[in-house]
Amino acid sequence: MPLPKLSPLQSRFAASLIASIMLLILYLVFTLPNLAYAADVDSTRAQDHNHERILDMDILGANVENLDLRSEAGYEAEFIGYDRGIIGRAPTANSPTQLTNNVARTDNIVQGQTFSYVFPSAEIGLQSRSTEDGMEQARLVKESDEGEDFEDLKLRPRQSRTVYISVNTCLQPRPIHNTTIEPPPQLQLYISQSESNPNPGPNSDGVQEMVMLDGGAVMKTVSVTGDLFMGVYGVNTTAYQDVWNAEIAVSTDGFYHTFYNNSDPNLQLIDSDSSAALLVTGNLTNEDVSSSAYQAVLNAAPPYLLFATDSNERPIQGLQNSYCGLMQNAGIVPSTTGQSASNIDTSLTTRGNGAPKQQFYLTGIKGGTTYSAILAMYGGRNSTTGGSGVVGGGGQVWPMMNFTTLSDGNCAVVFNLSFCDQTAYAVPGNPNNFPNMTSLASFYDNGASQYYQNFQNVLAQIPCNTTSTAQYSLARNCDDCAAAYKAWLCSVYIPRCTDFSSDLPWLRPRSMINPFPNGTMLPPEVVSVANQSAFLSSSRNPMIDQYVNPGPYKEILPCDDLCYNIVQSCPSSMSFGCPLPGRTSFNQSYGIKSKTQVTCNYPGPNYDQITSGSGTIMPHLLMFVALVVMSLVAV
Ligand SMILES: *[C@@H]1O[C@H](CO)[C@@H](O)[C@H](O)[C@H]1NC(C)=O
Ligand SMILES: *[C@@H]1O[C@H](CO)[C@@H](O)[C@H](O)[C@H]1NC(C)=O
Ligand SMILES: *[C@@H]1O[C@H](CO)[C@@H](O)[C@H](O)[C@H]1NC(C)=O
Ligand SMILES: *[C@@H]1O[C@H](CO)[C@@H](O)[C@H](O)[C@H]1NC(C)=O
Ligand SMILES: *[C@@H]1O[C@H](CO)[C@@H](O)[C@H](O)[C@H]1NC(C)=O
Ligand SMILES: *[C@@H]1O[C@H](CO)[C@@H](O)[C@H](O)[C@H]1NC(C)=O
Ligand SMILES: *[C@@H]1O[C@H](CO)[C@@H](O)[C@H](O)[C@H]1NC(C)=O
Ligand SMILES: *[C@@H]1O[C@H](CO)[C@@H](O)[C@H](O)[C@H]1NC(C)=O
Ligand SMILES: *[C@@H]1O[C@H](CO)[C@@H](O)[C@H](O)[C@H]1NC(C)=O
Ligand SMILES: *[C@@H]1O[C@H](CO)[C@@H](O)[C@H](O)[C@H]1NC(C)=O
Ligand SMILES: *[C@@H]1O[C@H](CO)[C@@H](O)[C@H](O)[C@H]1NC(C)=O
Ligand SMILES: *[C@@H]1O[C@H](CO)[C@@H](O)[C@H](O)[C@H]1NC(C)=O
Repeated sequence: MPLPKLSPLQSRFAASLIASIMLLILYLVFTLPNLAYAADVDSTRAQDHNHERILDMDILGANVENLDLRSEAGYEAEFIGYDRGIIGRAPTANSPTQLTNNVARTDNIVQGQTFSYVFPSAEIGLQSRSTEDGMEQARLVKESDEGEDFEDLKLRPRQSRTVYISVNTCLQPRPIHNTTIEPPPQLQLYISQSESNPNPGPNSDGVQEMVMLDGGAVMKTVSVTGDLFMGVYGVNTTAYQDVWNAEIAVSTDGFYHTFYNNSDPNLQLIDSDSSAALLVTGNLTNEDVSSSAYQAVLNAAPPYLLFATDSNERPIQGLQNSYCGLMQNAGIVPSTTGQSASNIDTSLTTRGNGAPKQQFYLTGIKGGTTYSAILAMYGGRNSTTGGSGVVGGGGQVWPMMNFTTLSDGNCAVVFNLSFCDQTAYAVPGNPNNFPNMTSLASFYDNGASQYYQNFQNVLAQIPCNTTSTAQYSLARNCDDCAAAYKAWLCSVYIPRCTDFSSDLPWLRPRSMINPFPNGTMLPPEVVSVANQSAFLSSSRNPMIDQYVNPGPYKEILPCDDLCYNIVQSCPSSMSFGCPLPGRTSFNQSYGIKSKTQVTCNYPGPNYDQITSGSGTIMPHLLMFVALVVMSLVAV
């Protein structure tokens, strides 16, 4: 529809008239049924594409009605008494959408277009430039070019305030051809504080700053002295179709959306099997066990959420730093209010180093698949609420980590055992005999617990509680012996299992003469060779082949220092001994710790312990030459 040319006076009148009509229409829209709504809006506002989109969203039921009303009404009210022609902000096709402090706004960003926003100075408690300087000043600013505009600022120092701008991409364009594997380009955020550049974007030649989103998110602080103008722009691409959908929020209190731009995902895989994985966060607190802060953490609800997705499907590439992007694109997501999903069982644990951590038991996932997992928090730090209107309500996102699940189907992650309370890893399993993690965990835990009873009976004969000179050792007592035995027993009785197909050098094949749970046997020539070795043909613990019958698997051997520690800590009258390193019996029974990988099994392994590389081996103990008399060490 071509518009007639109007004189300045006419255009002022027209602007006021249009604004009044708009208010009336908006009033009608929200009070009347939807009947006449689409037609009226179209005929009046056809020039304003922003408004068309806002109203489209109303139709979709998005909760933007109030925002829209406020942005129109608020904007009008602020300038009542001032002439629109002078202030130069009559709603035009490019009229920026007004943002409210800490309130997120979601818009579709059409390819090749810029969506404009303004965070008015009134929102930050600064006087609007036009009211402060009066109409004359405003006229000068409007008519001046960029250089004069800045000079004006220098001459009249203003209050300034830090403002936090953040954008999260919730949806991005889809590839047109399924051969396109790269994610689409990232959105761009343009920022201007110049009245003469109220629509910053790639097509504006005014003073502005551009920041590219990173993984679908950006966090930017700006020191503002007046109105803050922003544009969100997505480049026009030929390889992708549809629009971006992005959430923008501006705050004077702190970032609404947060992502942590460092390399620590704060999340570590404990172990996985073919349908489940156990992950754990870093310490929730480093306070002392006796402190009330420590107890408070343990008594509080688990603070973190987990997103996970099959990384082959690549749906979160380019969105991995965006909370809403993950929420709308990841395969496994928490509920919108931040509760855990049905296939994620989460709880707090002090396993390992004793510091409280949050663990996630992820079930119903695929075997032999690499997953990307991302730790997140609903709302701001320490906050249990989130969403629009809450400071930091847009959520926090940690860097992505990847893990790969096992594929053979005969190892199963167990944790939460009552006796072997430090045990948390994949053990030999069989979905036919033990379909349920809890029952498999009990099978192993009960067996270990019975062995421990026998040991306690023996320990009871030793004079532990005599004066220190009468004790068997000055350095160790019976409690040390009992603890060393328990750590060794749980690691030896409950072998750590991984795929038979894995060829890592520190693994030892077990149970090779038995069928996999699906009935398949290894090739007959392999079986007949394996049948000649007790190490290869059976499991370390004969109960496993008898009751679980996992078939061929590989074992991560217990760490040798578990054995040395018993020898060191228990009375020699108990006759513990360890195999001599270099002998086959040593190679088949124990592994040696590495600082970077889990090359052997020990209670409560976690990243802290691996990197700090504990486990000192006393050289003189290597001279101990006596085979372990206990039945559990490899046959
Ligand atoms: C984007 O590119 C397509 C094809 O090159 C063109 O038809 C379309 O008008 C462009 N859109 C914008 C907003 O520039
Ligand atoms: C891509 O799409 C074509 C036709 O729709 C289909 O035949 C082909 O298998 C798809 N390729 C991939 C990798 O999905
Ligand atoms: C994230 O960190 C990298 C490297 O430190 C830096 O190059 C990049 O600009 C940062 N991104 C953001 C959004 O801060
Ligand atoms: C976690 O807590 C343990 C035990 O208190 C401590 O040894 C370790 O250094 C802590 N890790 C970090 C990263 O603070
Ligand atoms: C969050 O909690 C920690 C420990 O309780 C406290 O030190 C920190 O100040 C809190 N942060 C905020 C933003 O409340
Ligand atoms: C995780 O996997 C994805 C997809 O394969 C890859 O792009 C990303 O770089 C990986 N991240 C890490 C930390 O290895
Ligand atoms: C049975 O399971 C094993 C281990 O996952 C696998 O290698 C084999 O191909 C499976 N056999 C059949 C018939 O599916
Ligand atoms: C761990 O066991 C306790 C009781 O033994 C139970 O209350 C809790 O739900 C279990 N946690 C998980 C994650 O299975
Ligand atoms: C596992 O089995 C036990 C007893 O056999 C049962 O009480 C429990 O509900 C089962 N759990 C699941 C998740 O099936
Ligand atoms: C030593 O004696 C104390 C008190 O009599 C008892 O509680 C403790 O269990 C005893 N220790 C051992 C290892 O028997
Ligand atoms: C292993 O050898 C024993 C006797 O040497 C034989 O009885 C058994 O059948 C063999 N098992 C397999 C699976 O070949
Ligand atoms: C034991 O294993 C190590 C490496 O794992 C190897 O170098 C050594 O030759 C093996 N010794 C025996 C006796 O198998």
